[in-house]
Amino acid sequence: MKKAKDYIVFPLDLPSERAARECVAMLSGHVGMFKVGLELFIGSGPDIIRHIRDVGSAKIFLDLKLHDIPETVCRSMERIADLGVDFATVHCGESQAMLEAAVRGSRGKVKILGVTVLTSVQHQDVAAAGFRDEFAADLSKLVVKRALMAKDAGCAGVICSGLEVRMIKEQAGTDFVAVTPGIRPAWEGMTADDQQRVTTPAQAIQNGSDYLVIGRPIRDADDPKAAAIRISEEILRKGEG
Ligand code: C5P
Repeated sequence: MKKAKDYIVFPLDLPSERAARECVAMLSGHVGMFKVGLELFIGSGPDIIRHIRDVGSAKIFLDLKLHDIPETVCRSMERIADLGVDFATVHCGESQAMLEAAVRGSRGKVKILGVTVLTSVQHQDVAAAGFRDEFAADLSKLVVKRALMAKDAGCAGVICSGLEVRMIKEQAGTDFVAVTPGIRPAWEGMTADDQQRVTTPAQAIQNGSDYLVIGRPIRDADDPKAAAIRISEEILRKGEG
């Protein structure tokens, strides 16, 4: 059975392999998945992936958010598939062909998640980028449209804010995985930082999120391990109730 900690994806948004290893040692057993993003992957290369696999049972999410011509995406995803990670990302914004290329390159060895609309983006940004009024006025329409495109392409799921999960699950089915960043616990002094479409851990889970990406609320806490445990307790108390 899925435990409360299994919902937590901790992004190793750190500059070096050394710093990441310290975080992995501290949070192993308290989060269900570690996410390796561009900053760390550029700094450390694939060694950090092997390290996470060797030290514990946490899942691994390689979040490189690919965005290129289909041939390049497919070939890059083939290399990612060889690394033995559980999830990898590709942007939904460009074309269905790019998403299909990512799925083809995965060869069934890694689950592909489509990035719908970043949680740092709000409707003014979408309007300024030249999108149709219908999408600028209601970002969730754009998120759902991209999620359905990802589903058609064969992706396992999407990255979306906690505000859009319910609609995505209704239209794409409950098995279609929803990974939600932009999570902020309702703790005193908590700030949204650059995130715009924000939910608490309990709200996101009540809306149907399968995994929550929670970075700065844990990383920047005085005691990161205690913060992760506190979030698990909140998930247990409110999320399932
Ligand atoms: O919790 P915090 O805001 O620190 O989380 C930041 C992390 O969430 C980064 O690793 C960023 O790449 C990730 N993120 C994401 N998709 C978004 C927004 C943020 O994967 N739409």
